[in-house]
Amino acid sequence: MRKLAAGNWKMNGTAASLTEVSALAQAHPAPACDMLLCPPATLIARMADVAKGTPVMIGGQDCHAKSSGAHTGDISAEMLLDSGASHVILGHSERRTDHAETDAQVLAKAEAAIKAGLIAIVCIGETEAERDAGRTLDVVGTQLHGSVPADATAATLVIAYEPVWAIGTGRTPTLAEIAEVHAFLRTRLTARIGVQAAGVRLLYGGSVKPSNATEIFAIPHVDGALVGGASLKAADFGAIVAALSAA
Ligand code: PGA
Repeated sequence: MRKLAAGNWKMNGTAASLTEVSALAQAHPAPACDMLLCPPATLIARMADVAKGTPVMIGGQDCHAKSSGAHTGDISAEMLLDSGASHVILGHSERRTDHAETDAQVLAKAEAAIKAGLIAIVCIGETEAERDAGRTLDVVGTQLHGSVPADATAATLVIAYEPVWAIGTGRTPTLAEIAEVHAFLRTRLTARIGVQAAGVRLLYGGSVKPSNATEIFAIPHVDGALVGGASLKAADFGAIVAALSAA
C-alpha cells in the first residue's frame, strides 16, 4: 500500500503561501509516499496550478452533499474536482464541532464526494472526556460505521483517526494507544466494507510533527498522517514526508 502524507491548512493561507508548495515539490520530486495538501477553498485552483506536474496532490476541506443548488457559501464535490482537487477531508472534528456535522451528514458528503470522483478522507476521533471514560473504541467504531459509505473501496476512501484532544495541542496518545485504535479500525472497517478494508489508508492525525513522525509511522496499521500546523511550512511537512517515505 502506498502511504499518504496529507496536510490540512484549515483557515490558513493566502497567495503568498503558495511558495511553500513549490518548495515542497522541489525538495521531494519523487517521494516514496503520496503527498496531499488541502488548502482553504480560495487557494485550491491556484495551488493546483502550482502543483501541476509535481507529485503534490490537492484536496478540499469539506463539500456539500448535493452537486449544486441554493446553498449559499457551500461548495460541491464537483466544484472541488473542477478546481483541481483529487481528495476532500470530511467530518473533521472542527466541522463536527463548529458546524454540528453528524455522522449521517458526513456519510452523505462522502457518498457525494466518491460519486463525483474524489477520494474521501473521513475523520473520526474521541474527545478527551470520552477517552477518560474508557469509551474511545466505542466512539470511533460508531463514527466509522455511521460516516463511511458501505460501498467505499481502497481507491475511494481514506480514514483519519484524530483524537480531538490531540489536535493542535502538542499532545498525542501513547504509541500503544494509537496502535490499539488503528488495529480496531481495520477490523471495524472490514465489517463495514469487506475485503477492500485491507487496502484503505488509515491515517493518524493530531500534533504530528517532524520530531514524532518516525515513531508514529512505525506503528502497525498507521498508513500515513493528517497534519495540521506542521503542514503549513514546506520544511516541516517535507520532514514528515521523508519520515513516511522511510517507514
Ligand atoms: P494538528 O492538526 O496537526 O495541528 O494537530 C491535525 C488536524 O486537525 O488535522
